[in-house]
Amino acid sequence: MTTDTATRLTQDQPTRLERIKANTRDDHQQIDDMVMAMKPFDNRDNYGRFLGLQYCFHAVMKPLYHADDLNALIPGLSDRSRFDSVCADLGDLGLPLPRDPGAIAAPHSGPARLGWLYVCEGSNLGAAFLLKAAVKLGLDDGFGARHLGAHDDGRGKHWRQFVQQLNGLVLNPDDEIVLRQGAHDAFDFFHNLLIMDRKVAA
Ligand code: HEM
Repeated sequence: MTTDTATRLTQDQPTRLERIKANTRDDHQQIDDMVMAMKPFDNRDNYGRFLGLQYCFHAVMKPLYHADDLNALIPGLSDRSRFDSVCADLGDLGLPLPRDPGAIAAPHSGPARLGWLYVCEGSNLGAAFLLKAAVKLGLDDGFGARHLGAHDDGRGKHWRQFVQQLNGLVLNPDDEIVLRQGAHDAFDFFHNLLIMDRKVAA
C-alpha cells in the first residue's frame, strides 16, 4: 500500500467518537423520546422533575470529572462538570436537592469512564434545544436553566475540543470495547432514572 492510499484509508475511517455516536444512536433516541414524553417544558413542576434527573446524573458523574488520572488524559476536564450549575438551578426554583441516586454509580476506574463522559458532554449539545424550550418557562442560562447553557468558549467549540481530546487518546482494542460499553451504561443509567420518575409520577 502506498503512503497516499494508507492516508486516504485512515481518513476514511470513522473516528472513535463517530463510532460511539453510531453505536449509541438508539440509546439516545430512546432517552430523547422519554424525556420529551415527560413534557418537561409544559410547566415548572415537570421541569423540576427533569432537573431532579439531571441532578442524579451529574452527581454520579462528578467523581469522574474530578478524577486525577482522567484530568491528566483530558486537560481541563474538571472545569467541564455541570453539577454545580444543576444545584444552582434547583436553588433558583426553590427545590430541595433530590435524594442521592443510591448504590448505582458510574465506574471508579478504567476506560468505561470515558464512555460515561462522552454521554455527559454530548448531552450539552442537545441542551441548546432544551434551553430554547426553557425560555417559555421564564428560565435561562442565568436562572433555573444554567446547566443547559453554553460554555463561555461557545457550545460547539467546547464540544469539539472534547471530541479532539477523546479521539486523540491511544487505547487498545479491549479498552475501546469497554469505553463503548461505558457509553451504553451511562445511557442506561439515565434510562433507569426516567423509568423511576415515571413510576413516581404515576
Ligand atoms: C429531550 C431530550 C434531548 C434532546 C431533544 C436531545 C437532542 C440532541 C441533539 C439534537 C443532539 C445533536 C446536537 C448537534 O449535533 O448539534 C444531541 C446530542 C447528544 N445528546 Fe442529546 N438530547 C436529549 C437528551 C439527552 C440526554 C438526557 C443525554 C444523556 C443522558 C443526551 C446525550 C447526547 C449525546 C451523547 C449527544 C452527542 C452525540 C454526538 O454527536 O456524538 N441527550 N442531543
